[in-house]
Amino acid sequence: MKVLKILNVVGARPNFMKMAPIIEAIKRYPALIEQQLLHTGQHYDEKMSQSFFVDLGMPRPDIDLGVGSGSHAEQTAKIMVGFEAVCLREKPDLVIVVGDVNSTMACTITAKKLGIRVAHVEAGLRSRDMSMPEEINRLCTDVLCDYLFTTDYLADQNLVAEGIDRGKIFFVGNVMIDTLLKHKEMAAGLDLSQKLGVKPREYATLTLHRPANVDDPLILEGILEAIAQIGRDLPVIFPIHPRTRKMTQQFGLERYFNTGEKVKGLWTTEPLGYLEFLHLNMNARLVLTDSGGLQEETTVLGVPCITLRSNTERPITCKKGTNILAGNKKEDILRCAEQVLTTEIVSGQVPEKWDGKAAQRIVEALLQIHNGALR
Ligand code: UD1
Repeated sequence: MKVLKILNVVGARPNFMKMAPIIEAIKRYPALIEQQLLHTGQHYDEKMSQSFFVDLGMPRPDIDLGVGSGSHAEQTAKIMVGFEAVCLREKPDLVIVVGDVNSTMACTITAKKLGIRVAHVEAGLRSRDMSMPEEINRLCTDVLCDYLFTTDYLADQNLVAEGIDRGKIFFVGNVMIDTLLKHKEMAAGLDLSQKLGVKPREYATLTLHRPANVDDPLILEGILEAIAQIGRDLPVIFPIHPRTRKMTQQFGLERYFNTGEKVKGLWTTEPLGYLEFLHLNMNARLVLTDSGGLQEETTVLGVPCITLRSNTERPITCKKGTNILAGNKKEDILRCAEQVLTTEIVSGQVPEKWDGKAAQRIVEALLQIHNGALR
Protein backbone atom coordinates (compact mmCIF):
# COMPACT_ATOMS: atom_id res chain seq x y z
CA MET A 1 0.00 0.00 0.00
CA LYS A 2 1.31 3.47 -0.91
CA VAL A 3 2.22 5.57 2.15
CA LEU A 4 -0.62 7.96 3.05
CA LYS A 5 0.66 11.51 3.41
CA ILE A 6 -1.40 13.50 5.90
CA LEU A 7 -1.20 17.19 6.71
CA ASN A 8 -2.75 17.94 10.13
CA VAL A 9 -3.99 21.49 10.74
CA VAL A 10 -4.29 23.38 14.03
CA GLY A 11 -4.77 27.10 14.60
CA ALA A 12 -6.48 28.06 17.84
CA ARG A 13 -6.48 26.86 21.44
CA PRO A 14 -9.43 24.45 21.23
CA ASN A 15 -7.78 22.68 18.27
CA PHE A 16 -4.74 21.45 20.17
CA MET A 17 -6.45 18.98 22.52
CA LYS A 18 -8.41 17.58 19.57
CA MET A 19 -5.39 17.05 17.35
CA ALA A 20 -3.04 15.63 20.02
CA PRO A 21 -4.64 12.14 20.18
CA ILE A 22 -4.92 11.96 16.37
CA ILE A 23 -1.17 12.56 16.04
CA GLU A 24 -0.54 9.87 18.66
CA ALA A 25 -2.81 7.37 16.91
CA ILE A 26 -1.20 8.03 13.51
CA LYS A 27 2.24 7.43 15.04
CA ARG A 28 1.23 3.78 15.58
CA TYR A 29 1.41 3.23 11.78
CA PRO A 30 4.82 4.60 10.73
CA ALA A 31 5.06 2.29 7.72
CA LEU A 32 1.65 3.29 6.42
CA ILE A 33 1.22 6.98 7.24
CA GLU A 34 3.51 9.98 7.03
CA GLN A 35 2.25 13.03 8.93
CA GLN A 36 3.11 16.70 9.20
CA LEU A 37 1.65 19.27 11.59
CA LEU A 38 0.80 22.78 10.44
CA HIS A 39 -0.05 25.62 12.84
CA THR A 40 -1.75 28.58 11.19
CA GLY A 41 -0.73 30.88 14.06
CA GLN A 42 -4.33 32.08 14.62
CA HIS A 43 -3.50 31.87 18.32
CA TYR A 44 0.05 32.92 19.12
CA ASP A 45 0.34 34.01 22.78
CA GLU A 46 2.48 31.58 24.79
CA LYS A 47 -0.46 30.86 27.09
CA MET A 48 -2.96 30.36 24.24
CA SER A 49 -0.73 28.10 22.15
CA GLN A 50 2.79 26.99 23.11
CA SER A 51 1.91 25.94 26.67
CA PHE A 52 -0.65 23.46 25.26
CA PHE A 53 1.97 21.81 23.09
CA VAL A 54 4.05 21.28 26.22
CA ASP A 55 1.18 20.04 28.43
CA LEU A 56 -0.15 17.69 25.75
CA GLY A 57 3.27 16.40 24.67
CA MET A 58 2.62 17.48 21.09
CA PRO A 59 5.43 17.73 18.56
CA ARG A 60 6.47 21.21 17.45
CA PRO A 61 4.63 22.16 14.26
CA ASP A 62 6.58 21.32 11.10
CA ILE A 63 5.12 24.43 9.49
CA ASP A 64 3.95 27.65 11.17
CA LEU A 65 2.08 30.16 9.03
CA GLY A 66 2.23 32.81 11.79
CA VAL A 67 -0.90 34.61 10.57
CA GLY A 68 -1.91 36.17 13.93
CA SER A 69 -5.05 38.22 14.58
CA GLY A 70 -7.17 40.32 12.24
CA SER A 71 -10.73 40.76 11.04
CA HIS A 72 -12.43 37.54 9.95
CA ALA A 73 -11.79 38.25 6.28
CA GLU A 74 -8.16 39.25 6.88
CA GLN A 75 -7.39 36.26 9.07
CA THR A 76 -9.17 33.78 6.77
CA ALA A 77 -7.49 35.23 3.69
CA LYS A 78 -4.00 35.16 5.23
CA ILE A 79 -4.47 31.53 6.24
CA MET A 80 -5.68 30.59 2.75
CA VAL A 81 -2.76 32.26 0.98
CA GLY A 82 -0.20 30.66 3.31
CA PHE A 83 -1.86 27.25 3.26
CA GLU A 84 -2.15 27.15 -0.52
CA ALA A 85 1.62 27.51 -0.89
CA VAL A 86 2.16 24.72 1.65
CA CYS A 87 -0.27 22.36 -0.11
CA LEU A 88 1.37 23.00 -3.49
CA ARG A 89 4.78 22.31 -2.00
CA GLU A 90 3.98 19.33 0.23
CA LYS A 91 1.28 17.69 -1.92
CA PRO A 92 -0.51 15.84 0.90
CA ASP A 93 -2.98 13.05 0.05
CA LEU A 94 -5.24 14.19 2.87
CA VAL A 95 -5.69 17.23 5.12
CA ILE A 96 -7.19 16.75 8.60
CA VAL A 97 -8.99 19.71 10.18
CA VAL A 98 -10.63 19.79 13.62
CA GLY A 99 -13.31 21.93 15.28
CA ASP A 100 -14.89 25.10 13.97
CA VAL A 101 -12.41 27.98 14.06
CA ASN A 102 -11.42 30.20 11.14
CA SER A 103 -8.36 28.04 10.49
CA THR A 104 -10.61 24.97 10.07
CA MET A 105 -12.70 26.57 7.34
CA ALA A 106 -9.88 28.42 5.60
CA CYS A 107 -7.72 25.31 5.19
CA THR A 108 -10.68 23.20 4.05
CA ILE A 109 -11.60 25.61 1.25
CA THR A 110 -7.98 25.94 0.16
CA ALA A 111 -7.28 22.21 0.05
CA LYS A 112 -10.53 21.33 -1.72
CA LYS A 113 -9.87 23.89 -4.45
CA LEU A 114 -6.55 22.16 -5.06
CA GLY A 115 -8.32 18.80 -5.33
CA ILE A 116 -6.94 17.52 -2.00
CA ARG A 117 -9.18 15.34 0.15
CA VAL A 118 -10.14 16.75 3.56
CA ALA A 119 -11.34 15.02 6.74
CA HIS A 120 -13.23 17.03 9.36
CA VAL A 121 -13.05 15.85 12.94
CA GLU A 122 -16.00 17.05 15.07
CA ALA A 123 -18.33 17.37 12.08
CA GLY A 124 -22.08 17.90 12.15
CA LEU A 125 -22.40 20.13 15.24
CA ARG A 126 -25.00 22.84 14.66
CA SER A 127 -26.17 25.71 16.87
CA ARG A 128 -28.50 27.01 14.11
CA ASP A 129 -27.27 30.45 15.15
CA MET A 130 -25.86 32.19 12.11
CA SER A 131 -24.61 35.11 14.19
CA MET A 132 -21.85 32.79 15.46
CA PRO A 133 -18.77 32.82 13.21
CA GLU A 134 -18.20 29.19 14.21
CA GLU A 135 -21.58 28.12 12.75
CA ILE A 136 -20.56 29.56 9.38
CA ASN A 137 -17.23 27.76 9.67
CA ARG A 138 -18.97 24.46 10.49
CA LEU A 139 -21.40 24.67 7.59
CA CYS A 140 -18.74 25.57 5.01
CA THR A 141 -16.36 22.91 6.28
CA ASP A 142 -18.87 20.07 6.40
CA VAL A 143 -20.36 20.71 2.97
CA LEU A 144 -16.89 20.49 1.42
CA CYS A 145 -15.24 17.68 3.33
CA ASP A 146 -14.82 14.13 2.04
CA TYR A 147 -14.86 12.41 5.43
CA LEU A 148 -16.92 13.61 8.38
CA PHE A 149 -16.03 12.25 11.81
CA THR A 150 -18.78 12.87 14.36
CA THR A 151 -19.00 12.90 18.15
CA ASP A 152 -22.63 11.82 18.59
CA TYR A 153 -25.73 10.62 16.78
CA LEU A 154 -27.31 14.09 16.74
CA ALA A 155 -24.43 15.32 14.58
CA ASP A 156 -25.01 12.41 12.18
CA GLN A 157 -28.69 13.39 11.98
CA ASN A 158 -27.79 17.02 11.20
CA LEU A 159 -25.51 16.01 8.35
CA VAL A 160 -28.02 13.59 6.84
CA ALA A 161 -30.76 16.25 7.07
CA GLU A 162 -28.47 18.58 5.09
CA GLY A 163 -28.27 16.02 2.31
CA ILE A 164 -24.77 14.73 3.01
CA ASP A 165 -24.09 11.20 1.76
CA ARG A 166 -24.22 8.76 4.69
CA GLY A 167 -21.14 7.02 3.31
CA LYS A 168 -19.02 10.06 4.21
CA ILE A 169 -20.13 10.09 7.87
CA PHE A 170 -18.28 8.14 10.56
CA PHE A 171 -19.53 8.21 14.16
CA VAL A 172 -16.27 7.78 16.04
CA GLY A 173 -16.75 9.57 19.38
CA ASN A 174 -14.99 12.56 20.87
CA VAL A 175 -11.26 13.15 20.45
CA MET A 176 -11.25 15.93 23.04
CA ILE A 177 -12.42 13.36 25.57
CA ASP A 178 -9.55 11.07 24.48
CA THR A 179 -7.24 13.83 25.68
CA LEU A 180 -9.19 14.44 28.87
CA LEU A 181 -9.18 10.77 29.89
CA LYS A 182 -5.48 10.46 29.13
CA HIS A 183 -4.55 13.45 31.30
CA LYS A 184 -7.13 13.21 34.08
CA GLU A 185 -4.90 11.47 36.58
CA MET A 186 -1.94 13.73 35.91
CA ALA A 187 -4.16 16.80 36.35
CA ALA A 188 -5.68 15.41 39.55
CA GLY A 189 -2.18 15.13 41.03
CA LEU A 190 -1.38 18.84 40.71
CA ASP A 191 -1.44 21.06 43.77
CA LEU A 192 -2.85 24.51 42.97
CA SER A 193 -3.79 25.43 46.52
CA GLN A 194 -0.82 27.82 46.84
CA LYS A 195 -1.29 29.39 43.45
CA LEU A 196 -5.06 29.91 43.61
CA GLY A 197 -5.93 29.45 47.26
CA VAL A 198 -9.16 27.49 46.78
CA LYS A 199 -10.38 24.16 48.13
CA PRO A 200 -12.05 21.36 46.13
CA ARG A 201 -15.81 21.94 45.56
CA GLU A 202 -15.59 25.37 47.23
CA TYR A 203 -15.26 27.48 44.11
CA ALA A 204 -16.59 27.92 40.59
CA THR A 205 -14.68 28.49 37.35
CA LEU A 206 -15.63 30.89 34.58
CA THR A 207 -14.62 31.23 30.93
CA LEU A 208 -15.98 33.93 28.67
CA HIS A 209 -14.87 34.97 25.20
CA ARG A 210 -17.73 34.75 22.66
CA PRO A 211 -18.20 37.99 20.71
CA ALA A 212 -21.94 37.85 21.56
CA ASN A 213 -21.06 38.01 25.27
CA VAL A 214 -17.99 40.22 25.44
CA ASP A 215 -18.24 42.73 22.58
CA ASP A 216 -21.33 44.58 23.92
CA PRO A 217 -20.72 46.58 27.13
CA LEU A 218 -24.25 46.15 28.52
CA ILE A 219 -24.32 42.39 27.97
CA LEU A 220 -20.82 41.95 29.40
CA GLU A 221 -21.64 44.07 32.43
CA GLY A 222 -24.83 42.07 33.11
CA ILE A 223 -22.86 38.83 33.05
CA LEU A 224 -20.14 40.22 35.33
CA GLU A 225 -22.75 41.53 37.78
CA ALA A 226 -24.31 38.06 37.97
CA ILE A 227 -20.95 36.37 38.44
CA ALA A 228 -19.82 38.88 41.07
CA GLN A 229 -23.05 38.12 42.96
CA ILE A 230 -22.42 34.35 42.77
CA GLY A 231 -18.89 35.13 43.97
CA ARG A 232 -20.20 36.50 47.27
CA ASP A 233 -20.93 32.92 48.37
CA LEU A 234 -18.66 30.92 46.10
CA PRO A 235 -15.37 32.33 44.82
CA VAL A 236 -15.14 32.31 41.03
CA ILE A 237 -11.81 31.73 39.27
CA PHE A 238 -11.71 33.38 35.86
CA PRO A 239 -8.76 32.61 33.55
CA ILE A 240 -9.32 35.50 31.22
CA HIS A 241 -9.08 35.23 27.42
CA PRO A 242 -7.02 38.01 25.73
CA ARG A 243 -10.07 39.17 23.80
CA THR A 244 -12.13 39.50 27.01
CA ARG A 245 -9.27 41.26 28.83
CA LYS A 246 -9.15 43.79 26.01
CA MET A 247 -12.92 44.40 26.07
CA THR A 248 -13.20 44.75 29.88
CA GLN A 249 -10.38 47.32 29.76
CA GLN A 250 -12.05 49.16 26.88
CA PHE A 251 -15.45 49.26 28.63
CA GLY A 252 -13.99 50.12 32.06
CA LEU A 253 -15.45 46.97 33.67
CA GLU A 254 -12.40 45.81 35.58
CA ARG A 255 -13.93 47.00 38.83
CA TYR A 256 -15.74 43.65 38.98
CA PHE A 257 -12.46 41.76 39.34
CA ASN A 258 -10.45 40.74 42.40
CA THR A 259 -12.42 42.86 44.83
CA GLY A 260 -13.59 40.46 47.55
CA GLU A 261 -11.46 39.01 50.31
CA LYS A 262 -8.99 36.55 48.88
CA VAL A 263 -11.45 33.68 49.21
CA LYS A 264 -14.54 35.43 47.84
CA GLY A 265 -15.46 37.30 44.67
CA LEU A 266 -14.41 37.07 41.04
CA TRP A 267 -10.70 36.35 40.63
CA THR A 268 -8.99 36.65 37.28
CA THR A 269 -5.87 34.75 36.27
CA GLU A 270 -3.96 34.61 33.00
CA PRO A 271 -5.18 31.87 30.62
CA LEU A 272 -4.18 28.56 32.27
CA GLY A 273 -2.46 25.57 30.71
CA TYR A 274 -4.40 22.41 29.85
CA LEU A 275 -3.48 20.42 32.97
CA GLU A 276 -4.03 23.26 35.45
CA PHE A 277 -7.39 24.12 33.96
CA LEU A 278 -8.49 20.49 33.93
CA HIS A 279 -7.50 20.24 37.59
CA LEU A 280 -9.57 23.33 38.40
CA ASN A 281 -12.63 22.12 36.51
CA MET A 282 -12.63 18.57 37.85
CA ASN A 283 -12.67 19.94 41.41
CA ALA A 284 -15.09 22.82 40.85
CA ARG A 285 -18.55 22.99 42.43
CA LEU A 286 -19.78 24.66 39.26
CA VAL A 287 -18.45 25.70 35.86
CA LEU A 288 -19.82 28.79 34.08
CA THR A 289 -18.81 29.11 30.45
CA ASP A 290 -19.56 30.15 26.90
CA SER A 291 -17.02 27.71 25.47
CA GLY A 292 -18.10 24.71 23.43
CA GLY A 293 -15.52 22.21 24.61
CA LEU A 294 -16.06 22.85 28.29
CA GLN A 295 -19.71 21.79 27.97
CA GLU A 296 -18.42 18.38 26.89
CA GLU A 297 -15.59 18.14 29.41
CA THR A 298 -17.89 18.91 32.37
CA THR A 299 -20.33 16.26 31.12
CA VAL A 300 -17.58 13.64 31.34
CA LEU A 301 -16.26 14.98 34.64
CA GLY A 302 -19.77 14.98 36.16
CA VAL A 303 -19.44 18.65 37.16
CA PRO A 304 -22.47 20.97 36.75
CA CYS A 305 -22.07 23.39 33.85
CA ILE A 306 -24.03 26.58 33.23
CA THR A 307 -23.61 27.72 29.66
CA LEU A 308 -23.90 31.47 29.17
CA ARG A 309 -25.57 31.14 25.79
CA SER A 310 -29.15 30.56 24.66
CA ASN A 311 -28.21 27.81 22.22
CA THR A 312 -25.59 25.12 21.87
CA GLU A 313 -24.14 23.12 19.00
CA ARG A 314 -23.63 20.36 21.58
CA PRO A 315 -27.19 19.53 22.75
CA ILE A 316 -26.10 16.04 23.79
CA THR A 317 -24.48 17.67 26.85
CA CYS A 318 -27.92 18.94 27.94
CA LYS A 319 -29.81 15.77 26.97
CA LYS A 320 -27.38 13.36 28.64
CA GLY A 321 -24.83 15.38 30.55
CA THR A 322 -24.62 18.08 33.20
CA ASN A 323 -25.13 21.15 31.03
CA ILE A 324 -27.82 23.83 31.44
CA LEU A 325 -28.33 26.67 28.96
CA ALA A 326 -28.80 29.93 30.87
CA GLY A 327 -28.45 32.60 28.18
CA ASN A 328 -26.53 35.77 29.05
CA LYS A 329 -29.02 37.77 31.15
CA LYS A 330 -28.19 38.45 34.80
CA GLU A 331 -31.46 37.10 36.30
CA ASP A 332 -31.32 33.90 34.21
CA ILE A 333 -27.72 33.21 35.19
CA LEU A 334 -28.51 33.76 38.87
CA ARG A 335 -31.60 31.53 38.71
CA CYS A 336 -29.63 28.67 37.12
CA ALA A 337 -26.79 29.07 39.63
CA GLU A 338 -29.23 28.90 42.51
CA GLN A 339 -30.78 25.76 41.03
CA VAL A 340 -27.37 24.08 40.75
CA LEU A 341 -26.06 25.21 44.12
CA THR A 342 -29.13 24.02 46.01
CA THR A 343 -28.98 20.53 44.47
CA GLU A 344 -26.56 18.09 46.02
CA ILE A 345 -26.76 15.28 43.49
CA VAL A 346 -25.26 15.77 40.05
CA SER A 347 -26.83 13.45 37.52
CA GLY A 348 -25.57 12.87 34.03
CA GLN A 349 -24.40 10.18 31.68
CA VAL A 350 -21.38 10.02 29.42
CA PRO A 351 -22.44 9.92 25.75
CA GLU A 352 -21.72 6.84 23.65
CA LYS A 353 -18.13 6.40 22.39
CA TRP A 354 -16.72 9.20 24.56
CA ASP A 355 -14.36 6.52 25.77
CA GLY A 356 -10.82 7.56 24.90
CA LYS A 357 -10.68 5.64 21.62
CA ALA A 358 -12.06 8.13 19.09
CA ALA A 359 -8.69 8.98 17.50
CA GLN A 360 -7.87 5.31 17.01
CA ARG A 361 -11.24 4.81 15.26
CA ILE A 362 -10.51 7.78 12.98
CA VAL A 363 -7.12 6.47 11.93
CA GLU A 364 -8.45 2.97 11.35
CA ALA A 365 -11.23 4.38 9.15
CA LEU A 366 -8.72 6.48 7.19
CA LEU A 367 -6.50 3.47 6.60
CA GLN A 368 -9.45 1.43 5.38
CA ILE A 369 -10.44 4.24 3.03
CA HIS A 370 -6.86 4.51 1.76
CA ASN A 371 -6.73 0.78 1.29
CA GLY A 372 -9.82 0.93 -0.87
CA ALA A 373 -11.86 -1.05 1.62
CA LEU A 374 -14.16 1.94 2.09
CA ARG A 375 -15.06 4.64 -0.39
C1 UD1 B 1 -11.25 31.75 18.46
C2 UD1 B 1 -12.33 30.97 17.70
C3 UD1 B 1 -13.38 30.48 18.68
C4 UD1 B 1 -12.74 29.71 19.82
C5 UD1 B 1 -11.68 30.57 20.47
C6 UD1 B 1 -10.98 29.86 21.61
C7 UD1 B 1 -12.85 31.73 15.43
C8 UD1 B 1 -13.84 32.48 14.60
N1 UD1 B 1 -13.02 31.83 16.76
O1 UD1 B 1 -11.86 32.91 19.04
O2 UD1 B 1 -14.27 29.63 17.99
O3 UD1 B 1 -13.74 29.36 20.74
O4 UD1 B 1 -10.72 30.92 19.47
O5 UD1 B 1 -10.09 30.71 22.24
O6 UD1 B 1 -11.96 31.10 14.89
N2 UD1 B 1 -5.73 37.25 20.91
C9 UD1 B 1 -4.54 37.42 21.55
N3 UD1 B 1 -3.64 36.38 21.56
C10 UD1 B 1 -3.90 35.20 20.95
C11 UD1 B 1 -5.11 35.05 20.27
C12 UD1 B 1 -6.03 36.07 20.27
O7 UD1 B 1 -4.27 38.47 22.13
O8 UD1 B 1 -3.05 34.29 20.99
C13 UD1 B 1 -6.71 38.36 20.92
C14 UD1 B 1 -6.53 39.33 19.78
O9 UD1 B 1 -6.87 40.59 20.22
C15 UD1 B 1 -7.55 38.86 18.75
C16 UD1 B 1 -8.67 38.37 19.67
O10 UD1 B 1 -8.01 37.81 20.80
O11 UD1 B 1 -7.96 39.83 17.87
C17 UD1 B 1 -9.55 37.33 19.02
O12 UD1 B 1 -8.76 36.23 18.53
P1 UD1 B 1 -9.34 35.29 17.36
O13 UD1 B 1 -8.39 34.20 17.05
O14 UD1 B 1 -9.79 36.14 16.22
O15 UD1 B 1 -10.67 34.71 17.99
P2 UD1 B 1 -10.99 34.15 19.45
O16 UD1 B 1 -11.91 35.10 20.12
O17 UD1 B 1 -9.76 33.74 20.17
